[in-house]
Amino acid sequence: MVNLKINNIPVAVEEGTTILDAARKLNFRIPTLCYHPDLSIAGNCRVCVVEVKGARLLAAACATPVADGMEVMTNSEKVRSARKHVVELLLSEHNADCTKCIKNGKCELQELASEYRIGDHVFLDLVKEECKIADISSPAIAKDDSKCIRCQRCVRTCSELQNVNALAVIAKGDHQHIGTFLDKPMHEVVCTNCGQCINRCPTAALSERTYIDQVWDAINDPEKHVVVQTAPAVRIALGEELGFDPGVRVTGKMVAALRNLGFNSVLDTDFTADLTIMEEGTELLTRLKLALVDKKEDVALPMFTSCSPGWIKYIEHMYPTLLNNLSTCKSPQQMFGSLAKTYYPQKKGIDPKNIYSVSIMPCTAKKFECERPEMRDSGYQDVDVVLTTRELAMMIKQAGIDFMKLEDQKCDSLMGDSTGAAVIFGATGGVMEAAIRTAYEIVTGREIPFENLNITPVRGMEGVKEASLKIEGCVPDWSFLEGAELKVAIAHGLANAKILMDAVRDGKAAYHFIEVMACPGGCLGGGGQPIPTSLEIRQKRTEAIYAEDEGMPVRKSHENPEITQIYEEFLGKPLGHKSHELLHTHYKKRERY
Ligand code: SF4
Ligand code: SF4
Ligand code: SF4
Ligand code: FES
Repeated sequence: MVNLKINNIPVAVEEGTTILDAARKLNFRIPTLCYHPDLSIAGNCRVCVVEVKGARLLAAACATPVADGMEVMTNSEKVRSARKHVVELLLSEHNADCTKCIKNGKCELQELASEYRIGDHVFLDLVKEECKIADISSPAIAKDDSKCIRCQRCVRTCSELQNVNALAVIAKGDHQHIGTFLDKPMHEVVCTNCGQCINRCPTAALSERTYIDQVWDAINDPEKHVVVQTAPAVRIALGEELGFDPGVRVTGKMVAALRNLGFNSVLDTDFTADLTIMEEGTELLTRLKLALVDKKEDVALPMFTSCSPGWIKYIEHMYPTLLNNLSTCKSPQQMFGSLAKTYYPQKKGIDPKNIYSVSIMPCTAKKFECERPEMRDSGYQDVDVVLTTRELAMMIKQAGIDFMKLEDQKCDSLMGDSTGAAVIFGATGGVMEAAIRTAYEIVTGREIPFENLNITPVRGMEGVKEASLKIEGCVPDWSFLEGAELKVAIAHGLANAKILMDAVRDGKAAYHFIEVMACPGGCLGGGGQPIPTSLEIRQKRTEAIYAEDEGMPVRKSHENPEITQIYEEFLGKPLGHKSHELLHTHYKKRERY
């Protein structure tokens, strides 16, 4: 242990601890901008400077390890003046139109400016008018260099967590900025729209494209029947934007709020998550049969899940030779979208052209996904608009709804019923667990041999997880799987996906089924979720997801009565003709700029 004093208070910490973490142990907050707990240390903003007794220069607390006998002052006159100077310099190059800014009230730079009482800029305003034009080429991500403080959190996120490397520091001096390959617009480069850089950007330099006004317009249009679906990860994080601690489930309040906002029908993406399990589980079993019984050599195994649109775009850019390994299932959002404009209006007696389909997602990549030309199988754009968890919270605030006081309500029926298996789609390993709960039972006629249906080997925050399950006692239809060992793998965060994909490409991975989620922790850590994010917050959201699953009366997708109903009344059978038409899709190779 290392003994030191911070603001004259003794503290003992482990060797290698930074001054920043040691100060936090004593509840002293040191401001930071380039530091983020998920990323490597950059030490470039200097806003975290502290005074170390005997040292000539101020030290960056995030990048300086403690030493025995060290005496640190985190709030001396010298420290305060240096920090104020740093913030003033940043603001001199910043387009500080806070009142018009999407980050107003939630911006780390604004918070510091207010904390250090920066009034009129001491330095000249150096932002040129032509620099204030944001790149809004992507339907998901807006990039506004005039609000960038060059902390490089985005560059490290895109490289360290996602291994996409869409962003880099470009040019020097006055011209230095965060750019893409040849400064191409965001929609032309390898960016997956995952939004992880947004979650870590301290300012509004990176933000989601927002479509709240379009949704208000649709709600106010008497011709429109506005349906809304919400993904499982939204209900366990929305509360964070509205006064609750991380990990508090607000499912019932969220449904009540959506009704108050004026949506005509409040439905659930979890319904189509259950449907995905029926389609994807059947697809996996069919591929296994073709490979093992019919001895077909061109069967693409392992099969990869296809729910995460950031992951889909990543594989389209980076591993196009493996596109056949992707399940052809659309994501639950898009399955919902195509049914919302076919099955739903047919049952309700509504003209599908009057249906306006809104999706509330933890994800920015879903904004891109809903605009893909492949996603129009209903004859219309299947999902009209995607809002993030953050945007839904903003609508709730705009409407003046006292969220805390709302009484719990339930989703409408017809595409509103779901199971615990669907809920866990929001956590890494969840799609795999839901698929195994159903596939094992189809093949053996028995429940999975795990206590309380909890398949713990596929859970947790390890970047790459592996599990295997011996299949014994098969029912006659599936006897060819008798004694087989189903091998699965799971990755979350695209840097972890790369590890698995390289192994598959090189023939070194003997798996049957691989789940990949683009975001750390799965959708619960998605790019549209409340900010801030950290491992601790994502773990709390994970616990909330599994608690929600355990509290559900039905926990296996194939036991959802509305799923039985839709196959009987509309779809026929999994992988049947109508399913192929509405619920499945294809992918395309993309360039690697
Ligand atoms: S990024 Fe922050 S400081 Fe800059 S304009 Fe927006 S709210 Fe204000
Ligand atoms: S875009 Fe955001 S995260 Fe990236 S360098 Fe600029 S301010 Fe930092
Ligand atoms: S959205 Fe994702 S892939 Fe695109 S730049 Fe940001 S972190 Fe990189
Ligand atoms: S937060 Fe320490 S140098 Fe930026």
